Amino acid sequence: MSDWQKTNWRSKPRIQMPDYTDSVALEAIEAKLSQFPPLVFAGEARRLKAHLAAAGRGEAFLLQGGDCAESFDQFSADAIRDTFKVMLQMAMVLTYGAKVPVVKVGRMAGQFAKPRSAPTEVINGVELPSYRGDIINELAFTPEARSPNPSKMLQAYTQAAATLNLLRAFSTGGYADVNQVHAWTLGFTESEKAEAYREMANRITDTLDFMNAAGVTKETAHTLQSVDFYTSHEGLLLEYEEALTRLDSTSGKWLAGSGHMIWIGDRTRQPDGAHVEFCSGVLNPIGLKCGPTTTADDLKVLMEKLNPENEEGKLTLIARFGAGKAAEHLPRLVQAVKEVGAHVTWVCDPMHGNTIKSATGYKTRPFERVLGEVRDFFAVHKAEGTIPGGVHFEMTGQDVTECTGGLYDVTEENLSDRYHTACDPRLNASQSLELAFLVSEELSQQRGK
Ligand code: PEP
Ligand code: CO
Repeated sequence: MSDWQKTNWRSKPRIQMPDYTDSVALEAIEAKLSQFPPLVFAGEARRLKAHLAAAGRGEAFLLQGGDCAESFDQFSADAIRDTFKVMLQMAMVLTYGAKVPVVKVGRMAGQFAKPRSAPTEVINGVELPSYRGDIINELAFTPEARSPNPSKMLQAYTQAAATLNLLRAFSTGGYADVNQVHAWTLGFTESEKAEAYREMANRITDTLDFMNAAGVTKETAHTLQSVDFYTSHEGLLLEYEEALTRLDSTSGKWLAGSGHMIWIGDRTRQPDGAHVEFCSGVLNPIGLKCGPTTTADDLKVLMEKLNPENEEGKLTLIARFGAGKAAEHLPRLVQAVKEVGAHVTWVCDPMHGNTIKSATGYKTRPFERVLGEVRDFFAVHKAEGTIPGGVHFEMTGQDVTECTGGLYDVTEENLSDRYHTACDPRLNASQSLELAFLVSEELSQQRGK
């Protein structure tokens, strides 16, 4: 929109953002961030948009994944490498089922701010502000730690820049070579328990052998050695987003320079709210979470605001209803999209509608329910004749015990062993890969290939 300004969101209702008490300190940080280089470039965001457009048409498939919340404490090269590695493995398996390229987008290099169900938390009669992610405050339950501190935005920027730097190096430096990725995947399928997936892995081996024999070697196929890998996060903390927003001189449009794709969460998608206002003016591809309370009318208004030119690849709708609930909610939204002839890319987030509290007190997500929602999502699209364009997971390459179930059967009793998430429970490396095999099967059935 021509009258869009990156500050317009400030006149809208401010929700799920901290009330910074020291406005002088806040302004100083914003001024500093505004001088820093953007983390991504407009051409990259446009390229991702083209890939997402292809996913919307069924000519590609989106794999979006990473931490619920990145954390300052757990920041390490190994953690980034491991998540990147599992995503490449998953992508290889999904490519096999989908028979189309897989678009890889990390919830990485900026996924720091969290919406919360309550503004405060009470422990033993003491009430303090809720933890809102490392870019805002700290998890420790003290008044100092919970007070929002604007200087954390600088640390988040630095961590995002270093993360993206490493991801770019991995993407092009030989680490993402297709043969190497396959060798890792074989490691998983060699285990006794992964018997069911071995056949698919063997077929992938045959395909790679054939390509090698046919002369598609590293030298002739640069794309087999390097990958496109994009970043995304919830665009929640708008002071941070605004400060990194830059004018793209080529197109005269505004770029959110904090990541390639930003999404609007289920709690902040009010059509007249600050987050929708901000996202309506940037050229990046935008994700919109759709939950049980999203009505067909809301969605129509949101599509008009967020994608007024009905550009393909601009808007990704991320359905997150919960296992067994997609059939109740998704059809009305799919039909609304069809009614207005909107271009969207439909993606399934089977995590956020399937969070439960275990008997041992941990927040968890049963693997079966996660898988169940993916299946529901595919079934609705099949019935409606529309395209399931991708999946969105909270996952890590680390061997954590946060979601129950899967081949190695994490039980409620095991949850305390390695429960490290800074927010919601994530699939661990083996659960992620297992899910990729299962989604791959769904995809090959859906596509009839
Ligand atoms: C998230 O993606 O971490 C999140 C909070 O999701 P939602 O907005 O869908 O609840
Ligand atoms: Co989450």
